[in-house]
Amino acid sequence: MMKVKIVADPTAGGKAGYELFAAALENNARVFGLATGSTPISTYDEITASNLDFSKCISINLDEYVSLAPTHPQSYHAFMQEHFFDKKPFSKSYVPDGLNPDEQEETARYEKLIAENPIDFQILGLGRNGHIGFNEPGTPFDSITHRVELTQSTIDANARFFDNEKDVPRYAYSMGIGTIMKSKEILIEAYGENKADAVKKMIEEPSTEQVPASVLQQHSNVTVLIDQAAASKLTKKY
Ligand code: GLP
Repeated sequence: MMKVKIVADPTAGGKAGYELFAAALENNARVFGLATGSTPISTYDEITASNLDFSKCISINLDEYVSLAPTHPQSYHAFMQEHFFDKKPFSKSYVPDGLNPDEQEETARYEKLIAENPIDFQILGLGRNGHIGFNEPGTPFDSITHRVELTQSTIDANARFFDNEKDVPRYAYSMGIGTIMKSKEILIEAYGENKADAVKKMIEEPSTEQVPASVLQQHSNVTVLIDQAAASKLTKKY
């Protein structure tokens, strides 16, 4: 059963996301799965401004662009430093190595890291086409960490962060959907009207590989945290 929590706006979402993170920590969560994108920023702001002690915990990020160095301003390494780790660090934080050209080696290394450090609490954002991590529509629900060829819609959505559309990397390393589903608890956040269709499909329509996030209907401990705009196409009462 998905728990659906509707809040007024992303600021209120940040407070609710923080509460869930704090409760997981209180319940002995030690490995936190983290996401990039604009969506989780309000939650990260609340967490890093708090006095929560996660100095003995580790974090494992969902994905990274292939070919970008950790110092590249648009890398997910750099995003996480700026929005989270520079403000308040974990004991150790892992992000896939976008500079490792050996796809087999990097994806196996990352999958092993997660197998050895099972994720207690995973934060996700929701792509406009229903993607989670960089798992685009059609990705098998049992997929493990893999190299992804980005779809044109994701390249276009992310082009605003680069000088030129041609500078957007074409590939990424991403946890698979099966990898994500092994997390004990999952929080997925979505804000704004442009996520309303994906939210509707994720929650109220049959689970299908065409909508990666709809796999979460099959997980036993998921909270969907959305604002009123993202909830605007839902027809049931929550
Ligand atoms: C990227 C990330 C996803 C993220 C999505 C939505 O594609 N790989 O993890 O959920 O963008 O981003 P935003 O939160 O900015 O809408």
